[in-house]
Amino acid sequence: MAAEYNVYKAFHQRSITDREGFWAEQGQLIDWHKPWTKVLDYSRPPFAKWYVGGETNLCHNAIDRHLDARADQKALVYLSTEVDVEQAYTYRELHAEVNRCAAILQSLGVAKGDRVIIYMPMIPEAAFAMLACARIGAIHSVVFGGFAASSLAARIDDAKPKLVVSSDAGMRAGKAVPYKHLLDEAIRLSSFPPEKVLLVNRGIDKGMAMVAGRDEDYAELRARHMDAKVPVTWLESNEPSYILYTSGTTGKPKGVQRDVGGHAVALTASMKHIYCGAAGQTMFTTSDIGWVVGHSYIVYGPLLAGMTTILYEGTPIRPDPGIWWKIVQDYKPTVMFSSPTAIRVLKKQDPAYLKKYDVSSIKMLFLAGEPLDEPTHRWISDALEIPVVDHYWQTETGWPILTAVPGIEKTPIKFGSPSFPAYGYDLKLLREADASEAGPDEKAVVAIVPPLPPGVMSTVWGDDDRFVRTYFSTFSKKLVYSTFDWGIRDKDGYHFILGRTDDVINVAGHRLGTREIEEAIQAHSNIAEVAVVGVADALKGQMPVAFAVVKDVSKIATPAARAAHEKEVMATVDRQLGAIGRPARVHFVTMLPKTRSGKMLRRTMQALAEGRDPGDLTTIEDPTALEQIRDALAGR
Ligand code: PRX
Repeated sequence: MAAEYNVYKAFHQRSITDREGFWAEQGQLIDWHKPWTKVLDYSRPPFAKWYVGGETNLCHNAIDRHLDARADQKALVYLSTEVDVEQAYTYRELHAEVNRCAAILQSLGVAKGDRVIIYMPMIPEAAFAMLACARIGAIHSVVFGGFAASSLAARIDDAKPKLVVSSDAGMRAGKAVPYKHLLDEAIRLSSFPPEKVLLVNRGIDKGMAMVAGRDEDYAELRARHMDAKVPVTWLESNEPSYILYTSGTTGKPKGVQRDVGGHAVALTASMKHIYCGAAGQTMFTTSDIGWVVGHSYIVYGPLLAGMTTILYEGTPIRPDPGIWWKIVQDYKPTVMFSSPTAIRVLKKQDPAYLKKYDVSSIKMLFLAGEPLDEPTHRWISDALEIPVVDHYWQTETGWPILTAVPGIEKTPIKFGSPSFPAYGYDLKLLREADASEAGPDEKAVVAIVPPLPPGVMSTVWGDDDRFVRTYFSTFSKKLVYSTFDWGIRDKDGYHFILGRTDDVINVAGHRLGTREIEEAIQAHSNIAEVAVVGVADALKGQMPVAFAVVKDVSKIATPAARAAHEKEVMATVDRQLGAIGRPARVHFVTMLPKTRSGKMLRRTMQALAEGRDPGDLTTIEDPTALEQIRDALAGR
């Protein structure tokens, strides 16, 4: 790396060589009810325990501790272009709402350690519910609203929640999304139905039916707990705070479990060193609370830092493509966080929409979730005339792995690169064959030498073995955490991410497992076998494309029948997994390309679908299978 970035380098170096000293200092950024006795306990690798013996609470740090200095400052601004609402909550008001919600949860039998699934649209009550869980030591698991009933059922069965918090409906691009209806279906499918369901009735689904004895109305219970004061439950730093399910190689999503103390410190430190967000300022993160970006940088991060956070329900292009910039003009965020796909969407619109508003409040824009192509990076930097920081991380880590750290040193941005390892991460690029370190510009696996820093997942919910097996067994010679991403480091020390090493794909910044989509497709009665691959897409990064073997070929005998069958399969995915997993195309074939040992040649199919050379095909069992793929793609 170029020698001049000495301040960044020293900061990073110390975080690795003097972990305890470094993180003890960062630990001072939050309030502790009881001090820790040991900064790091790494006696059971690869499990790392941070701030052992320390007692704290996320809700206290996100709300209560700001009350003295900023009770009348806005904490949460809810903006909806779907239902046309603008509503701000000060820290005092947020505190009151979260106390009410905590009292409601307690009245429904929720106690410390109980799980609460939050399946909600982007409304303030979703954030209240998360913070209320944190307040009483309940473990929340937010499920993204785009997931369908059976995906939700699988998460209910794994988390076994005492309560599900939901709503009658959400709105997306002007269309109602029937949350309650999907939830009822999920509960029917579930083997561990929750005892209680708490519903925020927005009046969108007029026909919403309440199940007597199970379903409770939020407004009614809130009225009963208007003056509730619920003391925070102090938790040992390593107790679980939340579970967030994410996709991997198997069809079964993993419950990423996060702790309390390390999580609070890591996010608070990131607000200072990475996002440069100070108390009193505003942050606008355009994600959804159902994803990790929403957890870390709509809800917890900005509030931990004493900032105002914006919760936006709507798309970037309705009522017109200037809506985000209007929000910026109105609310003056200093920092904004979005995704490359959203920027590509805006890039296609008339630039006049950007010019129409005063966006000078934003000092930095952060983008993450998928690769940021160089032209998009350049376009948005020029348009806003501010540093645009591409940064790279995962649901598992909860905060950036590779990033510029402008709060420490303003290093120059290279377009298309998420810069350098964040403090706390001992990041290596390892050769797949023997775990040795790759040289400059050599493609290798992005790995992290444990112990992982505070805030990173502590385990897979209920399955320590799966945590070790999944993340730490890529290399037999070295105990390292695999990110499952390929990367390179150039001679200046800048990193570039080149895509996943596993079967995870990234559609518009949404992480999906191809196996999950395959399982959803297989729910269709006429599908014998299917392979799903991620195919490069100029707008969304990647799109899932399916190749399916049908049982009864008479159903696809004519082009019209084929088209109808394709639609049916897509509808099956919508029902099973949710529309976010819907393949862009379903091609029908009579055989899939496999090796002689029966391994599906996914990379080969992907290469063909992207018009690339599929490479070495000597292991293929029946080459005519490839011809079928070629024909299907060519529409023959
Ligand atoms: O493949 C990487 C890609 O998204 C994956 C993580 O997705 P998720 O768990 O949804 O977390 C998103 C948190 C921002 C990674 O394994 N990814 C994320 N950021 C980038 C990226 N790929 C390239 N560049 C990035 N900046």
